[in-house]
Amino acid sequence: MAARMPIISGNWKMNLNHFEAIQLVQKLSYQLDKEDHANVEVTLHPSFTNIRSIQTLLDADGLPMKLGAQNCHWDDSGAWTGEISAPMLSKLQVQYVICGHSERRELIGETDEQVNAKVKSVLKHEMTPILAVGETQEERDADATESKVVGQLEADLAGVGGAKVASMVIAYEPIWAIGTGLTATPADAQAVCGLVRDTVSKLKGKEAAAGVRIQYGGSVKPTNIFEIMSQKDIDGALVGGASLEAESFARICQYRLQG
Ligand code: 13P
Repeated sequence: MAARMPIISGNWKMNLNHFEAIQLVQKLSYQLDKEDHANVEVTLHPSFTNIRSIQTLLDADGLPMKLGAQNCHWDDSGAWTGEISAPMLSKLQVQYVICGHSERRELIGETDEQVNAKVKSVLKHEMTPILAVGETQEERDADATESKVVGQLEADLAGVGGAKVASMVIAYEPIWAIGTGLTATPADAQAVCGLVRDTVSKLKGKEAAAGVRIQYGGSVKPTNIFEIMSQKDIDGALVGGASLEAESFARICQYRLQG
C-alpha cells in the first residue's frame, strides 16, 4: 500500500466575497511552490457563490490547488429551493465536498441519515467526500467521545463499500475545539484518529482503513500543525479561521519545513 498523501483543506465557511476569495487564492499561489504541492494536497472550500470564480482562476493560471465545496444536497435535482446538488458541483470541477460538518449538524440539524445520503451522492458523482465527525464538550465530559464518533461512522458510512471508503477523507473535529482556540493535544487527536481508523477497519476492512485519509480539525495553526501532522494516524488537517489568511494557511501547508 502506497503511503497516504497528506491533505490540508481550507474551510472558509461563510466568509469572503468572490473578490476577496480570488485575492486570497492569488496570494496563496505566490507562497506555495512546486515542492509544497508535491508534498501535500491542498484543497480550498469557498462559499457556493465563489466556486465559479475560483475554478476559473485555478484553471487559467494552472494552479495545483484543488477545488472543494462545504456541503451539497443528496438529490441530483428537484424541488429543493436554495439547495445545490453534487452534479452541479462536479460540473465546476469540484473534487472534494465536506459532508456533515458539525456546524451543519448542530446548527442546522443535519442528521446522520442525511449525511450518509450526501456521502453517497458525492461518491456517485466521482468526487471525494470529506466526512466530518466529532463530539461536543458535554459528550467529551461524559466520556462519550468514542460512542459518538463510532456511531457517526457506522451511520454515515452505511452502505458505502470498502473500496470507496479507502478513497475518502474523514475529518475528526472535536466541536469544543472549533473556533475556540482550544486544540486537542496531539496525543488526544491521535487517540481519536486511531479510533477512526480502527473503526473503519472493523466496518469496511483493512484495506479501507489503510487507504482512508484522516484529518484533524479544530483551531489548527502554523504553531501546532507540525506536532499534529507527526501523529501516526493523522494525514492532514481541516482548517477554518487560519485558512482565511494566505500567510498562515501557507505556513500550515508547509508544516514539514518545521521538522
Ligand atoms: P477552526 O480552524 O476555525 O477552529 O475551524 C475548524 C473547522 O471547523 C474546519 O472545518
